[in-house]
Amino acid sequence: MRNVILIGYMGCGKSSVGVKLSYRLKQPFMDTDKLIEKNAGKTIADIFDDEGEAFFRDLETQVIRDLMDEKHWYVISTGGGLPMREENRVMLKKLGKVIYLRVKPETVYERLKDDETRPLLRGDDPLGKITQMIAKRGPLYEEAADEIVDVDGLSFEQIIANIERCIR
Ligand code: S3P
Repeated sequence: MRNVILIGYMGCGKSSVGVKLSYRLKQPFMDTDKLIEKNAGKTIADIFDDEGEAFFRDLETQVIRDLMDEKHWYVISTGGGLPMREENRVMLKKLGKVIYLRVKPETVYERLKDDETRPLLRGDDPLGKITQMIAKRGPLYEEAADEIVDVDGLSFEQIIANIERCIR
């Protein structure tokens, strides 16, 4: 077994699925956003507000670089924008099996419409924004991924069963 890395757009279920998958695989769980918040001592939203997105993106790359030195295998949930940097995509591939949890914009909108923690979804027309971002990011998620698992309308159990089929 190797690291299992979950990538995909905000609200696709990377963290919820990742925690359950880590129990199933008996591999510890790690979440790049949580790690960044712990290291920085503040929330992602505050990092965006205080230091800006570019600074946050550098922190993401640093977290992935640090993971390259880890001696244990994890289930790793990544921030939705992390695979947008080519350098990060190359490192993710080296780290283990990369699974893209593919989600439709409408599903994301329903899940996140009252969420205040995602700075990139603030403002007017969040569904339009989500739709545009997914269209733009989709090809890069696909490029980064070893396997694609569609999540719309599926239960956690079904999603995990589909992931397990991919990583066997
Ligand atoms: C982002 C996704 C967020 C978080 C940050 C930026 C993105 O993580 O890293 O708000 O660019 O898609 P989740 O995908 O866990 O929401």
